Parts: sequence; C-alpha cells; structure tokens
Amino acid sequence: MTTVKSMMNLRPWWKTAVVYQVYPRSFMDANGDGIGDLQGIILKLDYLKQLGIDVIWLNPIYDSPNDDNGYDIRNYYQIMNEFGTMEEFERLLLEAHQRGIRIVMDLVVNHTSDEHPWFLDSKTSKENPYRHFYFWQDQPNNWGSIFGGSAWEQDPTTKEYYLHLFSRKQPDLNWETSEVREEVYRLMKFWLDKGIDGFRMDVINAISKVPGLPDGEVKPGDRYASGGEFYMNGPRVHEFLQEMYEKVLSHYDIMTVGEAAGTTPEQALLYTAPERHELNMIFQFEHMDIDAGSGGKWDIRPLRLTELKAVLSKWQEKLHNRGWNSLYLNNHDQPRMVSRFGNDKEYRVESAKMLATILHFLQGTPYIYQGEEIGMTNVAFPSIDDYQDVEIKNMWQERVIEGKEDPEAVLSQIHVKGRDNARTPMQWSDSLNAGFSTGDPWMKVNPNYVDINVEQALNDRHSIFYYYQALIRLRKAYDVITDGKYHLLLPDHEAIYAYLRETVDEVVFVAANFSVENQAIEWPEGFDDKYAACLIANYEDAPVSEEGFTLRPYEARVYHLRIGA
Ligand code: NOJ
Repeated sequence: MTTVKSMMNLRPWWKTAVVYQVYPRSFMDANGDGIGDLQGIILKLDYLKQLGIDVIWLNPIYDSPNDDNGYDIRNYYQIMNEFGTMEEFERLLLEAHQRGIRIVMDLVVNHTSDEHPWFLDSKTSKENPYRHFYFWQDQPNNWGSIFGGSAWEQDPTTKEYYLHLFSRKQPDLNWETSEVREEVYRLMKFWLDKGIDGFRMDVINAISKVPGLPDGEVKPGDRYASGGEFYMNGPRVHEFLQEMYEKVLSHYDIMTVGEAAGTTPEQALLYTAPERHELNMIFQFEHMDIDAGSGGKWDIRPLRLTELKAVLSKWQEKLHNRGWNSLYLNNHDQPRMVSRFGNDKEYRVESAKMLATILHFLQGTPYIYQGEEIGMTNVAFPSIDDYQDVEIKNMWQERVIEGKEDPEAVLSQIHVKGRDNARTPMQWSDSLNAGFSTGDPWMKVNPNYVDINVEQALNDRHSIFYYYQALIRLRKAYDVITDGKYHLLLPDHEAIYAYLRETVDEVVFVAANFSVENQAIEWPEGFDDKYAACLIANYEDAPVSEEGFTLRPYEARVYHLRIGA
C-alpha cells in the first residue's frame, strides 16, 4: 500500500494517513444483541472507504469482563465474545486490507484485568511467581485512582494491597519485572504476525513508576495525592520503549501512537524523534485540559480561543521537523468536539466543518472519532441510571452518594464532560435505535439521531460527511499539508483562528471564525483576491475584496498559493 508519492518523498506511510477511530461496542451491531461487533465493522467498511480514511484504530476487542469497556483485559490472545471470534477478526483484517485500509489495535499493557490469570495467580500468595507481575504492599501509599478513591485495594488472601491507577479491576503491571516485558512483546508479535498495522498504546507513559512508590503531596481539600509525578513519564519509560522497539517494533512496517497525558512538547520529542527509536507519535492532552480548572476534569471553566491556539501552535512549532503530531479534537474519552469547541445548536453543521478545517490543515496525522464525520453531539440523559461509564459511576458514588453533593449539579457536569457523550451508539439512520441495533442497545442512543445520521448525511451533498471526504482528498493532493511549516496569525484574537502552512513552493492560508459574529480578516502578505485559490470553504459562496474578506458565523476558508506561479 506504499504509494508512489510516499516512496519518492521517503515519507513513512503514516505521515500522509488519516485515521478513523472505531469504538466497537457502539459502532454497529450485526447480531442484534445490542452490542456492536466485528461483523458490524465489516458491514461498514465500504462506508469508511467512501469517506476516504486510510487506517482504522480499534478500541480494545480482547477478552474482558468489561469493567472499563475492554480496557481491562483478561486474555490478550482472545477476542471478546460479545464482539465475535478470531476468525471474524481475521476476516475483518482481510476485508479492510482488500480495501486499502489498515488496522491499528489498542495495546493495553499498563494494567490487566483482575481476572487475568497472571493476577489470579499473583494474589494467591506472597511467594507466587506472578507476585512480581504487579505492585503489592502491606500498606497503601497515598495515591488516588484516576477513577476516584484510593489507587490501592486490599486483597483478602494475603491481606496486602495492590496498585490500580484506574478501577480496582485494573491492577497495574510491574514493568520492572523483565518477564512482564517479555510477555508484552510476545503478545504484540502475536498480533503483528497476524498482519495488523500498528498499535495505539494505552497510557503508555505510565508504565515506569518511581521505585518505592513514594507518597505524593495531598492538595488542600483532597483526600489523596495524584501521584502523577511518580508515574507519568517515569524514570525507565524511554528505556522500556527502546527495548520494545528493538525487540518488536523495528521488525514491522507499522505505526505507533502512544497515549501520553501530562506530556510537554519537549518530552514528546523524547518519545517521537525518529532517531530515538521509540514511537511515531503520541496523543498529548494539553488542548483537552484548557477548559478545566485546578480541580481537574470536572472543574469546568469556559474555553478561550487564545489558549487553544497557543497550545496547538506550540505543539506545531516544537515538533516540526523533529517529531510528529497526532491531531484530534475528540475520542472515546472526551466530549463531542462540536459540543465542546463549536456550536451544536444553530451552527452545528458550520462549526463541525470549521473545526475539521482547523484540524486537518495542521501538521500531523489526523484522527476522526466515529460519528464526528456526521457532527454527532453530546447527550444529556436525565438520570444517572442512563450512564454506563465506570468513571462516571465512581465519581457519582463518591460525590453524590457519599459526599451528598447536589445531584443536579453533578449531572450537569456529566452532560458537559462525561465520557459517555462519545459512547452513545453510532447514528446510522432515523430508524429504530438509529440503525445501530435491532436489539436493546447497551447504551441509549442520542435522541437527536432522527436528524443527525449517516443516511441523511449521504443524501445531502452539503453534509459534514462530504466535507470530511474533501479534506481527506486535499491532504493527499497537497504536500504542503503534510510538510509545511506552521505560522500562527492573529495570536491575540479571541474569535479568529488563522494560520499559514508554508514550504518553499506552496503556501496555505487557513482562516476560521469561532464565534456567531461576523469577523473581518485581511489577506496575509503575498495573498490577494486575484491569485489565491480557494481550496475549501464551509459556506456556499466566498466573497472577497482587495483587502480581505468577512468570516460569517463559524465560517472557515482555506486559500492556496503556488510560489512563483
Ligand atoms: C485510557 C483509555 O483511553 C481509557 O478509555 C481507559 O479508561 C484508560 N486509559 C484506562 O485503560
């Protein structure tokens, strides 16, 4: 699948690829049990081909008791029953490859399920050979779990405590133990030898913990320390990844993307600079944190465009020619991008296209989260019982049941930030259950499926879907989108996001309005109303004058100049 263009430029294929993220549980249910499955994904491959994407990233599909929807793995070598069989997986891989689509799997090796045989053995006695696969202590330290409460759970058999940075059903693996690492490399090879095209590595920057697991500082008003400084980008993380590269990754033509919250661009270069032989790119989180206050994710504060621009620009500039960016505005852990950064009411279509424009002209590999391409929005279910996510449930228990906080106030935070915003079933049509399932869906569908669905999008030539299709085509047609240097314009403007991308022979000018008011913008140097060609715009017409043009509510335009032409 290496294209002539990528061979000529000696670019690795993932630098020109667009990735589509599939959350299998919510994508398409082919057997009517209410849960998405592998057959369902196979049924929709032609749809993805039509969109034009190159790669599918599959959220975990391994055998799991589903405490955290597959991020708690019981058997790395088996497919989750609800999703199908290994034969169906192989069929999916084959059918995807036949359409020129690659498949990247989730690699979840910071922790396993507490039902994994290693853990079941590990907890039987202090002498068990698997004891050192996990972290056991006779007393917990003061770290809190990312999903609430202590990060330690006491096990009745030996009365010792084990570490779980996430839910108590997700014990952390101890990467200091070389057998753990060897087991991980073995399972990676098993999947790579089947022909998969890479890994998205779950919380990979947390695999090296500071020895001794020291207590952290507890902030006033908190019960636990975050402990993050003792496990994020820890002392041996680069050594472990270089070992993984040498033993596994270097032997395959694949792509790797590491999830790495709390990482700065300088640290990102340590992970992604090609000469260091670690990963191709990471998911950084800085732009996901700008609408949160010091109290963390649920401490919601208004978003400022200047901050979003500053963060994205910093990452563009610092990684240029040295590392590589992944580009995303939402995923299965984040609210829907059009609800968070756009306007999901009267300007839903315009703002979804505008956000896509901003993202897809940046340097890096863009990721589209399922449903983003039709402008799916957040959901506001009326009751906590409508929610499924372990993070939401733990937080409700802690704050409403135990902490007696106002349930309505907490529910409204869930409406804004809860992970289930992204996990409602994919909206395929306006028929029963949005065409996702003929059974009872594992999670309620967003009631707006009657208006927002794939069938509607495919029947409307102005839909968000076709706009994404055009964006993907442009990326393949213009080298400047892959290679160009980024330059932010109007950094202090609170409504306009405008930037240039430049190579020696091409310049692209991207201008977008993040507000409901008209905004005037002047041509940047070198551009004018006669020679600049409009590559794409989200309104039907694009009037200009000699000086510049006016961006209407959530309008986005992209102009192109060939230098010397
Ligand atoms: C990050 C994943 O994206 C998220 O869904 C999961 O809950 C945690 N890691 C734990 O595996």
